[in-house]
Amino acid sequence: MCGIVGYVGGKNAQDFLISGLKRLEYRGYDSAGIITMDEEGKDTLIKAKGKISELEERLAKNKRDDKAGIGHTRWATHGEPSEANAHPHQAGDIFLVHNGIIENYKELKAQLKNAEFKSETDSEVLAKLIESFYHDGRYPLTNAVVQALKLVKGTYGIAVISRKNPEEIVVARLGSPLVIGIGHDETLVASDASALVGHTKRAIYLNDGEVATITRNSVEIKTLNAEPVSAKVEEIETNLSAIQKNGYEHFLLKEIMEQPESLIETLRGRVNLHEGTVKLGGPGLSETELRKIKHLIIVGCGTAYNAGVLAGYYIEQFTPEITIETVIASEYRYRQAYIPEDSVALIVSQSGETADTLACLREIKKKGIKTIGIVNTIGSTIAREVDGGTYVHVGPEISVASTKAFTSQVIAMVMFGLTIAQAKGVKKTVLQPYVKEIAKLPEEVRNVLELVHEDVKKIANKYKDYDHAIYLGRDTAYPTAIEGALKLKEISYVDANAYAFGELKHGPLALIDDRFFEIALIPKGELYEKAVSNVQEVLARNGKVIAVTNDDKFDLSVADVIRIQTSLEILTPLLMNLVSQLFAYYMTVAKGNNVDQPRNLAKSVTVE
Ligand code: AGP
Ligand code: GLU
Repeated sequence: MCGIVGYVGGKNAQDFLISGLKRLEYRGYDSAGIITMDEEGKDTLIKAKGKISELEERLAKNKRDDKAGIGHTRWATHGEPSEANAHPHQAGDIFLVHNGIIENYKELKAQLKNAEFKSETDSEVLAKLIESFYHDGRYPLTNAVVQALKLVKGTYGIAVISRKNPEEIVVARLGSPLVIGIGHDETLVASDASALVGHTKRAIYLNDGEVATITRNSVEIKTLNAEPVSAKVEEIETNLSAIQKNGYEHFLLKEIMEQPESLIETLRGRVNLHEGTVKLGGPGLSETELRKIKHLIIVGCGTAYNAGVLAGYYIEQFTPEITIETVIASEYRYRQAYIPEDSVALIVSQSGETADTLACLREIKKKGIKTIGIVNTIGSTIAREVDGGTYVHVGPEISVASTKAFTSQVIAMVMFGLTIAQAKGVKKTVLQPYVKEIAKLPEEVRNVLELVHEDVKKIANKYKDYDHAIYLGRDTAYPTAIEGALKLKEISYVDANAYAFGELKHGPLALIDDRFFEIALIPKGELYEKAVSNVQEVLARNGKVIAVTNDDKFDLSVADVIRIQTSLEILTPLLMNLVSQLFAYYMTVAKGNNVDQPRNLAKSVTVE
C-alpha cells in the first residue's frame, strides 16, 4: 500500500533507492528497507522500523557502490511494524518487496512445509513461494514469479531480485501501482511516478496482470499467461518544484495556499465566460448520450466522497430531471444496488488508485454503465480504466490530508453537471450564474486565503486544547461541514463530527457542553435565517460557537466570528471550506502533530 522503488543501471543504487523512498514518504509508512547487490550478487540488506532517517543512519555504516537493488516503505497490514516484518523479505537467493495483501497467505504457507518464516507478513509467504519455483536459479526468475502469482489471491505490486542474477529485476502488479522509468543506461521502478521525477521523463505504467523483466537497457513485459505486451512509453508531466515545499513549512499549507493556481488549471480551456458555457473534452459523451442521462452515481472515499456529496447538491439545483446518489465506495461495492440503464457513474479519486473506488468502477462497468473519472493522478489505474474522464489537474498532492483536490473535484463535477444541463437544453439564465461563479472562483479563493489567514490562526490557537468539535451546516454548507470535520479529525486528532443543522434536535444537541466547541457554517441565502436560529439553540445551551459567515450583519454573540468577504453567492461554501482547511492546519501545528503524515493513515489506500 505504500512505496516500492527499484534500480538497475550504471549509478549508485543506494542513492536512488533512498531518495526515491523519501519522495514516497508522504504516502505514510511505518518501516522501510533496501537491498542492493554488487555484480557478483553480494548483497547488502538494511531495514529499520520508523522513518527513512533511521534507515539512512544504518546506511551510513553500510555504504556500497552497488548498481542494482530494490526498496520499500511498509504500511503494515499483517504483523506489527517491526524490523523483522519490514521488507525486503528474503527467501534463499531472492529478495522481494510487496505492496498489497496476499489474501490466501495462510493456505500458501501451509503448503510450504519446509519453509522457515522470520516475519509475520503475508509478503514473506510470497517470497518463499517464488523461491519454491526458482529451484536455486535453475529456473528463470520471471517464470518462478509467474508460477507463484498464479496461485495468489489478493493484491500486489512486487519487485524481486536474485543474488544469482543481480542485473535483473522482476516486477508485477495486480491492484497496486507500478511505474517503470526508462533512463539512459538505467531502468528505474517506483510505485508512484513522483519518485522518478528528475531521473527520467519516460515511463511505462504496468497494467494489472502484467509481469516485467527489467535490465539496465531492456524491459520485457508479458501477461501472467505469457502473452507478450507491447508497452506504451508515456511522458511524466510532474516537475520537481511541484513535489517540493517551496518555502512552506508543510506540504499541507503549500497545497492550501496554491488553490488559486490549481483551480486555474482545473478550469483551463473549459469555461467560456463570454457564452456562459462549459466544455469538457474528456468524458467523450455525445450530446445525445448526455441528453439521455437520468441518473448520476457519484463514487468515492473520504474527501473524494465528500466532494461528491457537495457536487451532487449543486448539480441537482440546475438539472431537475436527473436523480443523483453519492455513495461510499467501500459500501457500494458490496451492495446489491440496481443501476438503471440511463445512468452514468462519476468515479472520484485524487490518487486514482484507491482500492474500494477501483472495485466499484469495475463492478459498475460490468453492469454496462458508462464510467467517467474525476481523477487527479495522470496515468493512474482509475484514470486508465474509466470510459472517459476529466482530470482535475491540481498537480501532485503530497500531504495525506486532501485539500486542493477537494475544491477542484467539486468544480470538475459541477462542470460535468453543467455539460449535461446544456445538452438537455436547460435555460442559459439558469446556468450562467454557475459558470460566472466558477470563473471567478480562483480570484475569490485567493482573497479569502489572504484575508482570513491570521484570524483563523489566532482562533485555532485559542481552541488547541479541545478534543471535541462539531461542524454544522445546512444545504450546501452541510457537505462542507462534513469535509471540515474530516480534515480536523484526520490531522489534529480532535474528535470532530458534522451534522446538518436541522438534525441537531434529533440527537446531537445532547452533546453540547464545555468539552465541545461548534463551528457553524452560515452562508447568506435562503436558509440563512434558519441556520441563525439553530445557532441560537446551541447558544442557549452554552455552546461555544465559532461562526463562519459572509453576512456583514451577523450579530449573534458567539465566541468567535470568522468573516468572509466575497461577491459569490452559490459557491460560498467552497470558500468556507478554506477556513476549515486552515483551521485544521493551525490546530494541528498548535497540537504539535505530524501535519503531512498523520498517524495510522496512508495517502493512497490501495488495500481494502
Ligand atoms: C482526505 O483528507 C483523506 N486523506 C482521504 O479521505 C482520501 O480523500 C481518500 O482516501 C480518498 O482518496 P483518493 O481521492 O485518492 O481516492
Ligand atoms: N501486506 C504486506 C505487509 O503487511 C505489505 C504492506 C504494504 O503494502 O506496505 O507487510
